[in-house]
Amino acid sequence: MEQAHDITLTVNGTQITRRVEPRQHLVDFLREELGLTGSHLGCEHGVCGACTVRVNGEIVRGCLMLAVQANGCSVDTIEGLTDSKELAPLQKAFHERNALQCGFCTPGMLMAAQDLLKQKKKASREEIREHISGNYCRCTGYQAIVDAIEEVING
Ligand code: FES
Ligand code: FES
Repeated sequence: MEQAHDITLTVNGTQITRRVEPRQHLVDFLREELGLTGSHLGCEHGVCGACTVRVNGEIVRGCLMLAVQANGCSVDTIEGLTDSKELAPLQKAFHERNALQCGFCTPGMLMAAQDLLKQKKKASREEIREHISGNYCRCTGYQAIVDAIEEVING
């Protein structure tokens, strides 16, 4: 059996230390060890975006990063950005515009949309679609999602 490693990282503003198996993915660590189940696990190979979290300010696929690689990093999940109210305008717009059905893609979609908001003051629908193109939604057809993001980013 491979040797476990002690890692120390900051998750949603709180520093934690845990012993992890070297092959455990970051999203599994967040869900199984910390109970942060808002980050979802879909394809498990970097395609669907359901596992999107923020590491040191950048969005990453939690299924493509190992927990040990997050040692020393600052990780933010949908729970943290909800508690801090950073996502509140997007969440309100998603709710009001019915931009979710089953909700499976929604945490990752919100993380990706917020990343666009951090980068740009305005965005066209094409730019919004491009930015969320790595986040799959099986339910909505994307129209309402783009509407919601457009409302927030363009005011
Ligand atoms: S579960 Fe990570 S990209 Fe699909
Ligand atoms: S709302 Fe169901 S996958 Fe997007």
